[in-house]
Amino acid sequence: MDAYRGGGTPSAEELAALANVPEAGAPDGLLPALHALNDRVGWISRPGLDEVTRRLGLAPAVAFGVASFYAMLSTTPRPPTVAYMCDDVPCRLGGAVDRISGLEAELGPPRTPRGDAVWERSPCLGLCDLAPAALVDGRAVRVSDGRSVTAALAEAVARRRRLGGPPPAGAPPRPHVGASGAAPLLRRVLDGVDPLDIDAYAAHGGWVALRRALRLGPEGVLAELTASRLTGRGGAAFPTATKWEAVARHPVRPHYVVVNADESESGTFKDRVLLEWDPYAVLEATAIAAYTCGAERAFVYVRGEYRHAAERLAHAIAEAEHRGLLGDHVLGSDVRVSVELRRGAGAYICGEETALLNSIEGKRGEPRSKPPFPVQVGLFGRPTVINNVETLACVPVILTEGVDRFRALGTAESPGTKLFSLSGHVARPGVYEVASGTPLRALVEELGGGVPRGRALRAIQCGGAAATFLTPRDLDLPLSFEGLRARGATVGSGAVVVLDETADLRDVILRGAQFFAHESCGQCVPCRIGTQRQVELLEREARGEDVTGLLAEVALAMKDASICGLGQTAASMVQSAFTELGLR
Ligand SMILES: Cc1cc2nc3c(=O)[nH]c(=O)nc-3n(C[C@H](O)[C@H](O)[C@H](O)COP(=O)(O)O)c2cc1C
Ligand code: SF4
Ligand code: FES
Repeated sequence: MDAYRGGGTPSAEELAALANVPEAGAPDGLLPALHALNDRVGWISRPGLDEVTRRLGLAPAVAFGVASFYAMLSTTPRPPTVAYMCDDVPCRLGGAVDRISGLEAELGPPRTPRGDAVWERSPCLGLCDLAPAALVDGRAVRVSDGRSVTAALAEAVARRRRLGGPPPAGAPPRPHVGASGAAPLLRRVLDGVDPLDIDAYAAHGGWVALRRALRLGPEGVLAELTASRLTGRGGAAFPTATKWEAVARHPVRPHYVVVNADESESGTFKDRVLLEWDPYAVLEATAIAAYTCGAERAFVYVRGEYRHAAERLAHAIAEAEHRGLLGDHVLGSDVRVSVELRRGAGAYICGEETALLNSIEGKRGEPRSKPPFPVQVGLFGRPTVINNVETLACVPVILTEGVDRFRALGTAESPGTKLFSLSGHVARPGVYEVASGTPLRALVEELGGGVPRGRALRAIQCGGAAATFLTPRDLDLPLSFEGLRARGATVGSGAVVVLDETADLRDVILRGAQFFAHESCGQCVPCRIGTQRQVELLEREARGEDVTGLLAEVALAMKDASICGLGQTAASMVQSAFTELGLR
């Protein structure tokens, strides 16, 4: 806080960073302005913050509350070139602990400046297919040894000097993708269609769905969506048509559409692949959602770590506007849809829909109490549809391939295909598209190549950080919402993390618990204190104490009394580890 006492004037560098922040700007310009400072200078100084608050008409305390909320923003002096080294479960299974020790030996503890560069530990970066992974000045890096991060940092510093500012992230590493049958969501990625080329997108089925939507009209689209029985892919499996209809028919205006591209659940990177490798499909789906729900403005909120994705989306938005596919006359009609890109800044909780809305509005990313739900009181207090990237990507498939074909691709309760992010002890980590109901075994053994080096499978964490552990006995479970639910598990975020017999299960569980303690927004006591107590109890348990009763009590309080899904589910992984894996 010392850095926040004095007055002073912003430096030339800070003023240059704020060149695009208008005088009398709106409060929702706060996060982009803080990003601009942080990205260029490395941190947000008091004079820099004061300049932002002056232009946006905000109280400095409010802006400081926001700046200090997000892990990627620094309110203490820090060099501008940052390497984030992932310290989460799939990367630990890939050797992150050793790589981090190597890095520490070479560069000193995290946050120790070395010239213009610094490194930090990070929760999952959404790069688990590169495990162990790092993000160096916005670029995804597979860490083959401690040195590769150091080399990437040195290159990044040189690049910044050359460009005189934050360099673009450029092309991301090509992901490993696959499918077990029809792959309507990954088809263009599998075919290697150039994700930057709008003509290539059109030549491979692009904009057909948007044209059809405009012909059908909002009611026609809603009828097809209802018949498709599409459910949300963001974790809650909520019927998509119900949400769209609630907003479309809501008398209060304006309406908004928000794309949830925050994807910060440990082990999850499926949306990243769609955003980076098929960005026009995400935009086309967003335009259809906006048109159907009567919204003229849509926002895509991309997690701060996804710089490659944000750049590709920004390019796609500019191209689509230029070609009249977005803007004041979508496809030459009277329909108006603009899509704006917003970047998160390192906060898993901002994936929770109401926290995300607060974040866009320029507030701390803390969840709101529900009800009211976003369809009633959403972005800027207006009716808002918020959907996951993959959910939206299903909509053009429904409109082009037809409702019957879409439903035939999955089970009666889980129509369509589903993307899974496969990582951990598996031969081919990557993103796989399977028809809903496909056995878990097909994903892990056939598509993922199974557990390598002749080792035995010990457990599978299915659904995300809060998810249930499955065992080898569960390999024939159908990957559908109802199939997993019947086993007490969940599709969740679509993360599937494979653990072989060498995995240190206590480390996996402790790291999972630390993730929640780190990511709790701290707004409500059961979660803020409960996630911390859970970590402490697991540490005591590792020393041989029997803390089962206390853990159960903490779990009950968190589940019953937390405001949002983070606190409500943060204990379930630990409980599941004890019951399913016999740890104790
Ligand atoms: C702690 C927490 C984190 C979440 N993170 C994400 C996320 O990263 N991406 C996402 O689409 N949904 C996430 N959700 C779910 C959203 O709140 C919301 O249900 C979803 O965006 C709705 O979209 P859908 O109907 O298309 O699934 C999260 C929920 C919670 C409680
Ligand atoms: S449950 Fe946790 S993350 Fe959710 S609002 Fe409460 S403190 Fe924040
Ligand atoms: S990127 Fe490391 S665990 Fe996901």
